[in-house]
Amino acid sequence: MARKRVAILISGRGSNMSALIGAAKAPDYPAEIVLVLSNRPDAGGLAVAQAEGIATAVVDHKQFGKDREAFERAVQAQLEAYRIDIVCLAGFMRILTPWIIGRWPDRMLNIHPALLPAFKGLHTHERALADGATEHGATVHVVVPEMDSGPIVAQGKVPVLPGDDAAALAARVLAVEHIIYPLALRLIADGRVRVAGACCTVDGPLSPGEAIYIPA
Ligand code: GRF
Repeated sequence: MARKRVAILISGRGSNMSALIGAAKAPDYPAEIVLVLSNRPDAGGLAVAQAEGIATAVVDHKQFGKDREAFERAVQAQLEAYRIDIVCLAGFMRILTPWIIGRWPDRMLNIHPALLPAFKGLHTHERALADGATEHGATVHVVVPEMDSGPIVAQGKVPVLPGDDAAALAARVLAVEHIIYPLALRLIADGRVRVAGACCTVDGPLSPGEAIYIPA
């Protein structure tokens, strides 16, 4: 089967992007990263992607003022130009409207640094610590119009340890993000994820490397 063509949307350093690029180098990986697009011209991940020989694009949201849909039309034009099959949001710090989300039904993924539905939104690590959480983690989910709310494809958990500050906890969570995002993209690109309402189910047995998958 032809490998799925993936675009990664970033706003910053792009460590999740790098994890996806790394995973996609495996010959049996069912997706290839063909475009990295940033809404910020200064995103560090752009240079990393270029060094990997991946095409990059910048659609600077500031050029579009408050017109979110005009910004999204410019993003969508890039995605179409590169014949993208699947979009991965990876530290992409713009809220998307139903207009563009509706163009990627079950084909747009996001990673969120918390065990959704806990801690939607920003500052998840600080809030987990303030709440006295004993476990924390990350979630890859299908993007729907409501923020941080789509069907969950994969989650990874970490313990919250005594003495943790937000930076220490963020680093522990990030390591898990780098595992579960490539896993989730693999499952989606293989066509093994069935989205049914608020849930996802996975077809076929999970291989050992997929053992951290937690069904929704
Ligand atoms: C990650 O923690 C991701 O979960 C969140 O933003 C951060 C992006 O980090 N959405 P990076 O740019 O992938 O390193």
